[in-house]
Amino acid sequence: MRNFEYFNPTRLVFGKGTIAKLSELVPAGSRPLLLYGGGSIKRNGVYGQAMAALAGFQVEEFGGIEPNPQFDTCMKAVDKAKQTDRDFLLAIGGGSVLDATKFVAAAAKYRGNDAWGILKKWAPVEAAIPLGTVLTLPATGSEMNAGSVISRESTNEKLFFGSDLVRPAFSVLDPETTYSLPPIQTANGIVDAFVHVVEQYATYPGPNPLQDRQAEAILRTLIEEGPKALDRPNDYEVRANIMWCATNALNGWLSLGVPTDWAAHVIGHELTALYGVDHGTSLAIVEPGVWAHQRERKKEKLLQYGERVWDIRDGNEDDRVKKAIRKTDSFFQDSFFQSLGIGTRLSDHNVPSEACALIAKRLANRDMKVGEHADLGEKEVTEILSLRI
Ligand code: NZQ
Ligand code: ZN
Repeated sequence: MRNFEYFNPTRLVFGKGTIAKLSELVPAGSRPLLLYGGGSIKRNGVYGQAMAALAGFQVEEFGGIEPNPQFDTCMKAVDKAKQTDRDFLLAIGGGSVLDATKFVAAAAKYRGNDAWGILKKWAPVEAAIPLGTVLTLPATGSEMNAGSVISRESTNEKLFFGSDLVRPAFSVLDPETTYSLPPIQTANGIVDAFVHVVEQYATYPGPNPLQDRQAEAILRTLIEEGPKALDRPNDYEVRANIMWCATNALNGWLSLGVPTDWAAHVIGHELTALYGVDHGTSLAIVEPGVWAHQRERKKEKLLQYGERVWDIRDGNEDDRVKKAIRKTDSFFQDSFFQSLGIGTRLSDHNVPSEACALIAKRLANRDMKVGEHADLGEKEVTEILSLRI
């Protein structure tokens, strides 16, 4: 097993009625800034529950954080946090609001000239305003990890940074908040969680069978529970299981001591930055292409995945690998996107075929080589995307 360290200080508060606990979770005497998105929290009652719990605090608000949060919006929130002398940030929303809040926390304390450097140059984060979250969309794992992804419209960039200093002090996960999710966001979230797991699993045989089996447990649970969420959006147990899966999929646990891929994410982020494809949808497009392209090198893990996750045991090895990829592709397509009228090909999203080479070039310009061997460059990325036109 490879050496590893695990540090995860986030207190998870999971279950019905838990938003009321904000009264104890937000540090006594602090001056919180509540950050939220386009208003879903006002329509589904989450905002009301939070404000009731925060009655004893002098809360300031910053709304309007967009999906795939924008750097410029975050910097307005930084100004607000500074002008109103805030010492705690409370994010209420999906991954975008949580990620934006993490960036605001770091940017507000950044001593350099341009906080974009945190994303572009991975300028070290030396301090951050403490933060907590109330999650309303299970998908990203942002509620229990150190990562954040921020976009910049003026340059069509979508970049990642991570720091232990922006790990949430607490995250409140009440599955009832997810009843109001539009079906497409439910679908995007399940696919995102699923792909987080396989990015840390479908590589080459690792020395950590515990991590493998935990990954397989999450995948099988998502396969069983995921489709039910579209049929029965108000089923508490279904929503709760999906929420718990998504947190476990990207809280750092699955990657301990094993190789990781992340090719689908790096390529998918480009699809979002350039063509506005939703994050989860971008992964459903790209991941089957990565696997088809890399199926020889990923063979052993894809065989294991096919057998343990999809019960694929018949046929020769090549057939079984192909079947495992097909099963995954049709799980995304048939269980989620088809009923919403959405395809998992580039052409379904008006992404032109030139995008394949363009995206590959953009990554090459950043010296990015992706995959678990960090050796998939311009040629391979073009080929991977070309498989999904
Ligand atoms: O803005 P509001 O009005 O809140 O509406 C949101 C938004 O329109 C809506 N929504 C959220 N919860 C809702 C709800 N609508 C009704 N009821 C609810 N309970 O859903 C829409 C999408 O929200 P968003 O936060 O953008 O989605 P998601 O959670 O999928 O986050 C995506 C972002 O996270 C990044 C992605 O790149 C993308 O920018 N990621 C962050 C990661 C991390 N921090 O570790 C890892 C991921 O791989 C990912 O890259
Ligand atoms: Zn993701």
